[in-house]
Amino acid sequence: MKLWSKGLEPDKMIEEFTVGNDRELDLRLARYDVEGSMAHIRMLESIGLLAKDELDVLLPALEEIAAMIERGDFTIEPGIEDVHSQVEFMLTARLGDVGKKIHSGRSRNDQVLVDLKLFTRDELRSLAAETEALFKRLQALSEEHKDKLMPGYTHLQVAMPSSFGLWFGAYAESLADDMQMLLAAYNIANQNPLGSAAGYGSSFPLDREMTTRLLGFRDLHYNVVAAQMSRGKTERAAAMAISALASTLGHLAMDSCMWMCQNFGFISFPDELTTGSSIMPHKKNPDVFEIMRGKCNRLQSVQNEIALLTANLPLGYNRDLQLLKDILFPAFNEMRQCLRMADFMLQHIRIKDGILDSSTYDYLFTVEEVNRLTLSGMPFREAYRKVGLEVADGEFKPVKSVHHTHAGSIGNLCNDRVAKKFYSIYDLIAR
Ligand code: ARG
Repeated sequence: MKLWSKGLEPDKMIEEFTVGNDRELDLRLARYDVEGSMAHIRMLESIGLLAKDELDVLLPALEEIAAMIERGDFTIEPGIEDVHSQVEFMLTARLGDVGKKIHSGRSRNDQVLVDLKLFTRDELRSLAAETEALFKRLQALSEEHKDKLMPGYTHLQVAMPSSFGLWFGAYAESLADDMQMLLAAYNIANQNPLGSAAGYGSSFPLDREMTTRLLGFRDLHYNVVAAQMSRGKTERAAAMAISALASTLGHLAMDSCMWMCQNFGFISFPDELTTGSSIMPHKKNPDVFEIMRGKCNRLQSVQNEIALLTANLPLGYNRDLQLLKDILFPAFNEMRQCLRMADFMLQHIRIKDGILDSSTYDYLFTVEEVNRLTLSGMPFREAYRKVGLEVADGEFKPVKSVHHTHAGSIGNLCNDRVAKKFYSIYDLIAR
């Protein structure tokens, strides 16, 4: 039976095609659907559309459904289209006619919207927490290994000295930028669409400020059409944040693959964190980082998928929007998995000592030498030429020590200031 049933069952094929895997995806929205309904009926009571005694039977019944969801006992029965219908049918089955009253002044269009806002807000909070764990790990590694030098490359050619302090610290600070994107997406999600109903409001005097307060939203989507338009925009903003994170992690994964390669050999991991080959007995492959790189590359296309799905949709609700769940929900999971895995792997990273002792890296120190000559009075261009000629003649002798003191350099990482920057953003999501 459908809420909008006029007595005829739609053809099974049509149902399968239009519902698809939406029931399964909707299970993730169930607790938010109940939360939204609770706020909505409290508000209906406050404006006289529900009697106090009706509210008093509806709220415990919804709480019971919430407990079922919590226990994992909640299902969307076959033949019931979505989570919104399921909750209403359950209430009606238990309470009779009063169950049918909860839908006054709303539509499944704002119901799914409010579910998605609450869900996205939580998912972004959870991604922010995972990001913070990785951030802490990277900062700790940066401090621990700040004196260990490694080659810095440009054009993948040996360039200038770098360090593990810089390498780890760079990814930590990059996550601070990603946190800005998470915060932007979070703020977009953190607005109340409830009361926009089918997308054009209601003739009931709905108290939208009240539901905003009850659901803990920062603000509301005032304009009811804008509220409906936020379906798609909210998902897209979240996907953009995921894309930013994925780009950072994809890079980290690529670096890790490369530094694990024997030609570099800068880092390694315990055997049990690497994978073997079916033919080459010596192999310790970086499959974890390869899968991470692949997943992160794919995750960066989620925002494009959303952009294409929503491009040029007519204003107002369109069923196409349902498919957004199928794009975004798995992306949240994958992103979380990648963040966790990166943190787990880094927990076990081993770093080679004395990397720069090898003569392969002698030329990393040419700029140090040019700068030393410049500091002792020789004009820079002349010093550059002199060292250049030494290199050309095979006579360059590096002094393998570095003295970098400016902010953000090998000798002055400013990790404490980076942490301040990171937490000034993170705290706005986590509080
Ligand atoms: N499953 C639907 C979705 O995600 C719920 C809203 C249905 N609204 C409608 N007018 N058919 O969009």
